Amino acid sequence: MDIAIIGGSGVYDPKMLDDLRTEVVGTPYGDVELVAGRFGGREVGFLARHGVGHAVPPHRVNYRANIWALKSRGVRRIIATAAVGSCNPKMVPGDFVLVSDFIDFTRQRPCTFFEGGPQGVVHTDFTEPYCPVIRRVLVQAAGELGIPRHDGGVYVCTEGPRFETPAEIRMFARLGGDLVGMTNVPEVVLAHEVGICYGLVAMVTNAAAGIAASHLSHAEVLEIMAQNGENLRRLAMRALELMPAPPAGLAVEPPAEPAAAAPPACRCGPGTPPPKHFA
Ligand code: HPA
Repeated sequence: MDIAIIGGSGVYDPKMLDDLRTEVVGTPYGDVELVAGRFGGREVGFLARHGVGHAVPPHRVNYRANIWALKSRGVRRIIATAAVGSCNPKMVPGDFVLVSDFIDFTRQRPCTFFEGGPQGVVHTDFTEPYCPVIRRVLVQAAGELGIPRHDGGVYVCTEGPRFETPAEIRMFARLGGDLVGMTNVPEVVLAHEVGICYGLVAMVTNAAAGIAASHLSHAEVLEIMAQNGENLRRLAMRALELMPAPPAGLAVEPPAEPAAAAPPACRCGPGTPPPKHFA
C-alpha cells in the first residue's frame, strides 16, 4: 500500500475503492482501524480521521498512531481532506483549496515523533510543508473535472473544538491565513517527520466566524460536505489515476520504532536535497 486517503469531516466512506477490508494496525501509540481497498489495480488505504461515526474530536485524534499506522503499512503518499472555514472572501463555500502552507495555533497536542532523550533532538524543515507533486495532481484533477479550486492557500489550525471568535478570525486574516480548521496540525507535521509526501484538499464549508451571516454549527459543516461529497470522491479518483509513482530513494520499510524514523521527507520539491540517511 503506497498511497492512502485520510478522510476528514463528512468523508467516512471509501466508496471509490473495491475489495474493501478492515485492518487493525498496532502502533506504539495504540491501535488504528484502517480500511484497505483496491483502485485501478493499486492497493489504497483509507483512514477516517475522526473515527467511525465521527466519535473523536479534533484535539483528541490520535494523530501519531494514525500516521504511524500508515507508515508501517508502507504508505508514501497521503491525500488528506478537511472541512474548513474561510477568512478569504475569494474562497467561498463549495470551493476546494489545495493547501500550500499552514500557521499553527494548536496548544496541547503531541506534535512530534521525536521526544528527545535517546531519540535525539530533531528539527524538521518545513520550508515546503505540503508535497508540490500531490498538489499539482490535485489541481490538474480538479481542473479536468470543473471543480471550483484554488491552487494554494494558508491553513490556520486552531485547537478547537470550539469555533473561533470574530476577533481571532480578523487576526488570522491579517497574519495571512486564508482558511481555518482544527485538524491539519499535527497531521501534516507527523507525516513530514516520517518521510510521507502529504497533500491536503480543504473544502470550504462556511465563511469563518464574524464573516458568516449567521452563527456557525457543525451540522452546517456536514451539510455542505454532504452536498460536495460527490465532487470530493471524483477528485480523489482522478487524482489516484494521475498520481505518479512515489519518489525513489525514500524509506519504504517502516523503522522498527518511532525513534528510528526517517528524517524529513517529501523530496518532490525543487532542489530539496536528499535526506542524509538515504544519500
Ligand atoms: N472553523 C474551524 N474549523 C472548521 C470551520 C471553521 O469555521 N469550518 C469547518 N471546520
